[in-house]
Amino acid sequence: PALDDHVLGVAIYRDASRKKEEETELIMSLEREGIISSISARLLEKGARGVPGAMGEMAAFLGVNRGALVEMDCDDVPTGEIILTDGEISEGTSPLEFASLPASALCGFAGRPWEKGPVEIGSSGRPEERHEALILEAVGLQGDHVHAQPVYSGTEGNAFLLLQKGREPISYADSALITKFCALSGSVLLRDIRMQMIKETNRLLEGASRDIVEILARALSMKDPFTAGHQINVANLAKAMAEKGGYDESFTERVYYSGLVHDLGKIAIPSSILSKPGRLTEVEFEIIKGHVRLGWEILSSVELPWPLAEIILQHHERLDGSGYPGLLEGSSIIKEARFLAVADVVEAMISHRPYRAGLSIKEALSEIKRFRGIRFDPEAVDLCIAVIEEGFVMSDPSYLPYP
Ligand SMILES: [Fe+2]
Repeated sequence: PALDDHVLGVAIYRDASRKKEEETELIMSLEREGIISSISARLLEKGARGVPGAMGEMAAFLGVNRGALVEMDCDDVPTGEIILTDGEISEGTSPLEFASLPASALCGFAGRPWEKGPVEIGSSGRPEERHEALILEAVGLQGDHVHAQPVYSGTEGNAFLLLQKGREPISYADSALITKFCALSGSVLLRDIRMQMIKETNRLLEGASRDIVEILARALSMKDPFTAGHQINVANLAKAMAEKGGYDESFTERVYYSGLVHDLGKIAIPSSILSKPGRLTEVEFEIIKGHVRLGWEILSSVELPWPLAEIILQHHERLDGSGYPGLLEGSSIIKEARFLAVADVVEAMISHRPYRAGLSIKEALSEIKRFRGIRFDPEAVDLCIAVIEEGFVMSDPSYLPYP
């Protein structure tokens, strides 16, 4: 500063406001990164269930307390919505609110952000915005300054995000944060839809496979009612053993369904041999033994979610190699076949046939105990004894034809 052309002194000033702005921006940028990390971790851990929490977290950071995220299926029917009201997140679907909209409204609305990227929508009175106003109303938003952004797209569905911001435009950095949220949420929502589709396909496939197995069992019952009843009992006993042993659902299903059709190959054995009263000749017994390979041949030609053909091929194998077809012994026999072997033998021993009386349960159990660890899997023997001693009863002792 000078006074009357006389220099009295010099002062140096430094404008600190710019520096402060830079510091504030740096802090904000670090906070944004923190939010993105937190959202990513949440979505990674919880998948689609984490989207509402992630949206709430992002909105709180942006200072937005009203908004919505609407999911639609491939026919533009809303399938879910996340609503942000006064900072609180709620989930659900409001089919009634959306039902009042013209059919084209959601479709046109969802398409617009995809064409133009993030857009600002509101009731400006333009004809194409009338639908938008209705959509905003349906999710509890009104007026201007609503930021709309696509969340994901795919052949299976799409979604859009709405955030009611203040009059201030969304900053470039905040817009990047919203885009990141939309990309992450979109991928987990899409993954969720695909997982549901896979589950549904598997459910249909398993249902069809069960039907096939039951049809095959039924086909045999027409030829040999005794075998039909035997198969049902063996399936139930083997299933009870697997459950008692704490085996998982897929193991239990494998022993159950293989039990239901384990003698399927008998369908190709002449009835005169199958139902022959009295002792079989050696040749006849060899023909009967062929049922395991015949069963394997029939079942290996059918696509099923369980390896039934292999289990059935091995159900007469024995640990000491004394079984047939005699290809395997010990632990090379699959566990399911070892379970089936025990259930099969016990059921066969206690069943009555026109040409012979069945053994008592006590006699049958002492027989498998005698060969425990020799012919039969020790665990399968113990589980079979345990379930029978706990009151397991053959559900079909009368050997009526398959119902
Ligand atoms: Fe058999």
